Amino acid sequence: MSTPLDEIKREIEKLRQEIRKADHRYYVLSDPEISDKEYDLLLDRLKYLEERHPRLIMPDSPTQRVSGGLLAGFASVKHKVKMLSLDNTYSIEELTEWEARVKRLLKRGVDIDYMVEPKIDGVSCALTYEKGVFILGATRGDGDRGEDVTLNTRTIKSIPLKLQGDFPTRIELRGEIYMAKTDFETMNKRRLKEKEPPFANPRNATSGSLKLLDTVLVSRRRLKCLVHSLGWVKGYGFGTQKEFVDKTASWGLPVDVHRKRCPDLKAVIDYCREWEQKRDSLEYEVDGMVIKVNNLTLQQELGATLKSPRWAVAYKFPAHQATTRIARVELGVGRTGIITPIAILRPVKCGGVTISRATLHNFDEIKRLDVRQGDTVLIERAGEVIPKIVKVIASRRPAGTRKVKVPSRCPVCGGSVEKEKTEEVCPVRSKTSKGKASNGVYWYCVSPVCPAQLKRSLLHFASRGAMDIEGMGVSVVEELVRQKMVKNITGIYKLRKEDFLKLPLFQEKKADNLIRAIEGSKNRPLSRFLFGLGIRHVGEKAALVLAEKFKTIDRFFQLKIAELECICEIGPVMAASIVKFFSASKVQTLIKEFKAAGLDFVQGEGAVKQSKLSGKTFVFTGELKNFSRAEARELVVDLGGKWSGAVSKVTDFVVAGKNPGAKYTQAKDLGVTIINEAAFKKLTQI
Ligand code: IVH
Repeated sequence: MSTPLDEIKREIEKLRQEIRKADHRYYVLSDPEISDKEYDLLLDRLKYLEERHPRLIMPDSPTQRVSGGLLAGFASVKHKVKMLSLDNTYSIEELTEWEARVKRLLKRGVDIDYMVEPKIDGVSCALTYEKGVFILGATRGDGDRGEDVTLNTRTIKSIPLKLQGDFPTRIELRGEIYMAKTDFETMNKRRLKEKEPPFANPRNATSGSLKLLDTVLVSRRRLKCLVHSLGWVKGYGFGTQKEFVDKTASWGLPVDVHRKRCPDLKAVIDYCREWEQKRDSLEYEVDGMVIKVNNLTLQQELGATLKSPRWAVAYKFPAHQATTRIARVELGVGRTGIITPIAILRPVKCGGVTISRATLHNFDEIKRLDVRQGDTVLIERAGEVIPKIVKVIASRRPAGTRKVKVPSRCPVCGGSVEKEKTEEVCPVRSKTSKGKASNGVYWYCVSPVCPAQLKRSLLHFASRGAMDIEGMGVSVVEELVRQKMVKNITGIYKLRKEDFLKLPLFQEKKADNLIRAIEGSKNRPLSRFLFGLGIRHVGEKAALVLAEKFKTIDRFFQLKIAELECICEIGPVMAASIVKFFSASKVQTLIKEFKAAGLDFVQGEGAVKQSKLSGKTFVFTGELKNFSRAEARELVVDLGGKWSGAVSKVTDFVVAGKNPGAKYTQAKDLGVTIINEAAFKKLTQI
């Protein structure tokens, strides 16, 4: 016999299904079947029933889209399968070369068909569904770890909270979150009116929105999503990319209607050309097309490099271009002493962004382009890349232009200047010119005490991907160098609170915080330290590979080029740069000083204390007797754990105090371990 509660359950389920169907028709298919009013009535009735029966609230209920809560931050999530990026091609010729490589790698004369679709200029995301329920939304982050933005992604109406049809038990889909161009413009107009700074482009607006800590504000940003690839799946098979996308659509997920299967490369090229012409007609910004080998078995055979899959490639559309005048050329000095000429431009709009500076890379480039101060130039902007000067418009050269000369002295410290002697790959052009060797194009300030170099080195050392010293920003570094309070990067570990208090920028609290941050950085893993040293050509990823392989800093002083070249991620240029760096006596002294300051260079979990909390994510709900919420969270972090404001599948423990809130029910539904305050206290006792 069915009870009144059973009937309510049935009604709730029916309402949820109707709302989900309406959401799908409205947000995914853009073809609504019911009026807004009817929709509101359904939602109101569901809210009413759930308010009276809170135990029946499920995380996948349409009422849970906007929780209206303030998030305290984002927990970090490890991606089960790394989130890669795409290699770029910039011409049909390069695209043809890519196909030839694919065929060569497959070592047999197979016919290959492709799936082709626009490359959305948004923010990549990973969406996990378990038993059809949306349980985790994560950003790409560094590819290995991203941020748990589940609650914010739940506000995106085109992402269903529940799948329909014959979905797999567990699946992670990858897609792009974006803001439509029209929504972006409306939002920026409103921001200007309300005296808020406008966003530079839809991608920045999307990424900024995803990081908002108030889900109500996120939901107002009208973000959208399109699924484009598979992260991983349990107990389900697809034969082709096309089948995967078609299935994805059948479960109610949004996919790009502009996707097309192309039987061969000729069809791919035609389709790319077609969209190159029509790109502005799309509702989102695009920077090219993505071409994917359709057959998933072949995709698997092709595999991936450290950075990108070999079975897919981007065909980039020509960048946005504009013409303007060079007002003057300024010289900057980088952390390795390289002197870089920068063109200061008469501000000009280029692809929706105002450009006022462009890099000239080096003095050979100035000669090649014959750039003079006062010239009219064609500039180009591609994605995030710093705008560059394509050519001088010679016919519009006014009288009185001034040549740019190599300085005889460093523009910052007046030290001697020398041209680089070694043969190296030019780092700034390697992407487009495929890393052709360019012999000695850089001019350096060779002064070991150049403040410009020191400033850049310090900023890089303290930066997020390196030692992550919060509070060591541009203004602090400027002052420390100006007042000669540090002479090299080890100098920061000799600073005392009294030293900071001498600077006008600091009061007690700020000085304490910075001292604490500097102290905390001493436990960073070797990989971050290596990256922070600023060895030429060694980026964050390479530093990680190196640290995991060689484990201790002392090992780096014994390395030989041949040994490094055996590591597949390390090329000859990087290998030579590493060996050269560690052979300098200056570097040996530097490392001794770091050791004396107490840096431990341990690779692995070096940054955190080992405890039962290490690596575990905690969520708090209800009132705690012995701690304030902030104290409890701080304790978790101190003991190597993480905390989050929201419950998701990656939560390890929910600590429930008196009068727990909705997080308690969510934890129960997701099967997350719930503990009381006493159990939490016990865990924290090392
Ligand atoms: S397929 C990398 N398809 O572009 C694994 N990616 O520059 C295969 N992107 O991080 C991705 N539109 O998030 C694919 N239609 C599309 C895309 C797309 C945009 C993003 C993707 C990736 C980035 C690489």
